[in-house]
Amino acid sequence: MEKAVEFLSENTNNFKPEIGIILGSGLGEIADEYCDYAFSYGEIPDFICSTVQGHKGRLVFAVINGKNTVMMQGRNHFYEGHSMSEITYPVKVLKNLGVKTLILTNAAGAVNEGFRPSDLMIITDHINFMGSNPLIGKNDELCGERFPDMTEVYKKYLIEIAEKCAKKLGIEIQKGVYWANSGPSYETPAEIKMIRQLGADAVGMSTVPEAIVANYCGMDVLGISCITNAASSSAGAKLSHEEVIETTQRAKKKFKSLILEIIKSL
Ligand code: HPA
Repeated sequence: MEKAVEFLSENTNNFKPEIGIILGSGLGEIADEYCDYAFSYGEIPDFICSTVQGHKGRLVFAVINGKNTVMMQGRNHFYEGHSMSEITYPVKVLKNLGVKTLILTNAAGAVNEGFRPSDLMIITDHINFMGSNPLIGKNDELCGERFPDMTEVYKKYLIEIAEKCAKKLGIEIQKGVYWANSGPSYETPAEIKMIRQLGADAVGMSTVPEAIVANYCGMDVLGISCITNAASSSAGAKLSHEEVIETTQRAKKKFKSLILEIIKSL
């Protein structure tokens, strides 16, 4: 951890980011446009190189709308075979660099039948169905408590800011509960029916481990999902990763303008 933080501070002229953003599948363009310093994950001590198509695997530092920001252009996933602590290690690095507010983004399937592909959803809460937890193991008392409270992981004041920004930009926005599966297989129709009955609105394979660790370390979390497809049972059509990426491309303009507006308002 110290090595990674030292490496990044030394090579960014001691850049101190306040806002962190993890950019999900197909949503990384903002880090191409705003880029003062960039490192591929392979260069950073103990970072894992990203392998999934649609994920670049770069840590990008930039001043955006006057705010010092660090962006993860792509993330590592549990389904790639990495451990929970490996995939959440970057969140701890961001915390140690000085990040106070973490914006988590992802591509997700719609469980709520009122959602449409290319909708954006503010995450109000999550359900962890990944079968593991990134905090399993010896607790680091310097980071946080053994049994962290989870009553407001996705901060209400950030949800309000995101809603106001969407309204200002004329972007219709959804709100809902994000359900995380381990993946990599998509859900069966029976699973989607269960997920809906248990109170979730969208389903995906990421974000929750990062949200748990960020909350544990004392960061304020905002989550935004880009709805890329109707999760299996509702559509009756087959689902592919290509479709997911294609839909993020349709939504990326409004996604980017919303993120920029949120950064301005923080
Ligand atoms: N299920 C799980 N993860 C996803 C989906 C989905 O339907 N769409 C994008 N990521």
